[in-house]
Amino acid sequence: MFDLPILETPLPTTVSPTIAPELTTLTPSLHDNVLPSTMKSGTSANAPKVYVETYGCQMNVSDSEIVKGVMHTSGYALTDKPDDADVIFVNTCAIRDNAEKKIHERLMHLKYFKKRRRDLVVGVLGCMAERMRDELMETKQIVDLVVGPDEYRRLPELVERAGTGEKGIAVKLSRVETYDDIEPVRTDGISAWITIMRGCDKFCTFCVVPFTRGRERSRAAHLIVDEAKRLQDAGFKEITLLGQNVNSYHDETTNIDFADLLRDTARAAPNMRIRYTTSHPYDMSDKLIATMAEYDNICKYIHLPVQSGSDRVLQAMNRHYTVEHYKERMRKIKEFMPHCALSTDIIVGFPTETEEEHQMTVELMREVRYDGAYMFLYSPRERTKAWKMEDDVPYDVKVHRLDEIVKQQQRIAGEINQLAVGTTEHVLVEGPSKRNPDTEWQGRTDTNKIVIFPHLTDKNASIHAGYVVGDMVKVKVERASAAAFFGQIVG
Ligand code: 5AD
Ligand code: SF4
Repeated sequence: MFDLPILETPLPTTVSPTIAPELTTLTPSLHDNVLPSTMKSGTSANAPKVYVETYGCQMNVSDSEIVKGVMHTSGYALTDKPDDADVIFVNTCAIRDNAEKKIHERLMHLKYFKKRRRDLVVGVLGCMAERMRDELMETKQIVDLVVGPDEYRRLPELVERAGTGEKGIAVKLSRVETYDDIEPVRTDGISAWITIMRGCDKFCTFCVVPFTRGRERSRAAHLIVDEAKRLQDAGFKEITLLGQNVNSYHDETTNIDFADLLRDTARAAPNMRIRYTTSHPYDMSDKLIATMAEYDNICKYIHLPVQSGSDRVLQAMNRHYTVEHYKERMRKIKEFMPHCALSTDIIVGFPTETEEEHQMTVELMREVRYDGAYMFLYSPRERTKAWKMEDDVPYDVKVHRLDEIVKQQQRIAGEINQLAVGTTEHVLVEGPSKRNPDTEWQGRTDTNKIVIFPHLTDKNASIHAGYVVGDMVKVKVERASAAAFFGQIVG
């Protein structure tokens, strides 16, 4: 797993790597703890300002909230304008080469910020930190700090030292760090991420995450459940439990597993929608599926990356399951939750993948009929096992394979969404629509489908005159595309 398709609306059927600039608050902030700290009492008016730009998966978004929490506690104000900042952090992603390249370009651009303001402190955080330290710090002299995902507590100290001209490196990985006592500064008013575990022990042969984020470790269940309750009390409407591979969550003290945690969270926050991501097919238990089915507030949406439809390729990827096992899990999910939406991740062009094996992926996707899929060209990553294999599928063949599954997926998602026309969906209002923010709202079903609907219309003015972001409304779907539903409020 990992790029939990992030920030960008997990609009399935996306091909692009999941890179997105920091989530700026689209929705009006409803609660004090989501207000930029520049506006909070307690941070002095002339406090130094920190700007955090986030790339990559939802885990990085959640980490950036922790970083903001650490900095805020140390007296820094937050800003969403890099021009105003005294400290700029770029939280990076190393999952694929094109992700790294984009971030690299951005860092080059930051050089100009530094030229204009000599006392500006620039820090590279997250998964690229370790790899980039020589180049960015020593050779190109662009950044003052390089800090890995387990060292964020040291940021204030390192920033202070950077102010005196001392470069800072902190890239050690920890077996225990879970940032339990840090209060994240959340930037979204209705949806909150809760990181339940860090790191990954799966060592899929293509994936750099075990090397950049280190070994798997789980937070204590009671802390997670308490956090969920606090978020509910603060007015949040939805939480997503986050981990690289949530199914292997394990609270060592109490022996609580992920299904137990999900149940306890759903009970503790009965008025909230509960989501989670990401799962590994190997650990997707009957107990977890049954728990999801039992609680109405656990969203009926599962992101279950399959990566390939060929057993041989899956084995070469060290995925620990067969296509048959995966299909059996899918059947079980549909047996317990017939309307559960499903999405997946696919890699095309893994070393040695033949055309015939690729066709097995095409066939699997046709058989499962995913609501959405994140599809990627294989990208060799240093330190992984696959790095030592020859990247022998030519680029144009990879692109051709990607194109084939993207087109097919688009068609399937369109057909699935078409079935919703005429139905009435429960939609959580998230904010103005991206295309027509002045006249339309955007929300989401529990199956994670985006729904676009107009503000007031004469027809139903009396019904929704007073609703706001965070409300649950009923929308009758009038039309659907592969990407969204479009309809009218009916209650
Ligand atoms: N090349 C291409 N895709 C990758 N992913 C992870 N590592 C690589 C890589 N080296 C994809 C997998 C994973 C998703 C988050 O990113 O599909 O599930
Ligand atoms: Fe996901 Fe495998 Fe990477 Fe772990 S190693 S984050 S399970 S893709």
